[in-house]
Amino acid sequence: MAEFQTDSVSTALTARIVEDIAAHGGWISFERFMQAALYTPGLGYYARGTLPFGHLPSGGSDFVTAPELSPLFGRCLAVQVEEALSACQAHEVIEFGAGSGALAEQLLRALDSSVQRYTIVEVSAGLQQRQRERLAPWGSRIRWVSQWPSDIHGVVVGNEVLDAMPATLLTFDGEQWLERGVAVHEGVLMFADRPTPLRPPVDGPWPAGTVTEIQPQARAFMTGLAQRLTRGMALLIDYGFPEAEFYHPQRSSGTLMCHRAHQSDGDPLRDVGLKDITVHVDFTAMALAAQDAGADVLGYTNQANFLLNCGLDRELAQADAIQRSRAQLLMAEHEMGELFKVLAIGRGLHLDPLGFVRGDRMHRL
Ligand SMILES: C[S@@+](CC[C@H](N)C(=O)[O-])C[C@H]1O[C@@H](n2cnc3c(N)ncnc32)[C@H](O)[C@@H]1O
Repeated sequence: MAEFQTDSVSTALTARIVEDIAAHGGWISFERFMQAALYTPGLGYYARGTLPFGHLPSGGSDFVTAPELSPLFGRCLAVQVEEALSACQAHEVIEFGAGSGALAEQLLRALDSSVQRYTIVEVSAGLQQRQRERLAPWGSRIRWVSQWPSDIHGVVVGNEVLDAMPATLLTFDGEQWLERGVAVHEGVLMFADRPTPLRPPVDGPWPAGTVTEIQPQARAFMTGLAQRLTRGMALLIDYGFPEAEFYHPQRSSGTLMCHRAHQSDGDPLRDVGLKDITVHVDFTAMALAAQDAGADVLGYTNQANFLLNCGLDRELAQADAIQRSRAQLLMAEHEMGELFKVLAIGRGLHLDPLGFVRGDRMHRL
């Protein structure tokens, strides 16, 4: 008897995934599973259009992102965006994965007439609808596109988008590498491993039992972005590490995590569709993908350095006590300040971006 979740969304989504597994001979990759769990139209965690972002579980949210935490995040990011727009003589911002629309609102307010067009690329129809409602006051300056613009002349931003892209799971059994996928056993979703030619990008040593991830979709995203960037800058902000830290032998359980009601757990196969599934970002892989596609890597630092370089101190001096305490979380080392990183890539720009003036860590990538 199937041991599906009682919640109807999760039951329907799990049944859909069970059918997909049967149609694929009894096994699908974890990447395919994660795609279904997050993005199946009408059922997936992001596709349903409920808003998972917020300060507290009592409001029904699952986690908080930087623009949800404080508008000072967007105000500081705007300083870097404005410098880059001016350097490439452009008036367009393109945001990937705009969530509730909070960052778009902050950037549009701060940048005012420097932005003539704000383009959003959002894979979730439900979230896109939320964004349309929130951003209606900006009228025709905002557009939503389902296909990427073919030539990007302007500034691209993406906050916590790379971590939401489906990842491939790998495990090492002491002798060989296996790809971790999903199968069904007595009606219940289970992990199942198969030999694979896929490998992490570094040689190890790998303790037996290591589980780790590679991110082909996120890499392909960076390649596509770099190829389309004709003149401008892209700023990707997310939690993650350079490859040497990401694949450090001590991180032998990988970075896969689920978030629900501000708690994290490591079991993506339960309550499918009701919780976020995410992996940390290997920023070396992202930078290399962009560079191999012809873009320049312009900067890499942690969020605290980036925000301070962009004037967070000045903003804090004028903020009230509540705003100050929230904004402190953006910078605190044990909160978002160190784990979150900012990667800037560019093309056709002769610029030392101000967000990376102090504390640039490109040499660590
Ligand atoms: C963790 S949420 C972050 C939302 C928002 N940026 C924030 O910081 O609050 C991830 C967002 O990325 C979107 N997304 C995931 N993959 C995407 C892709 N390939 N292109 C565009 N949006 C994507 C999701 O639908 C969701 O809106």
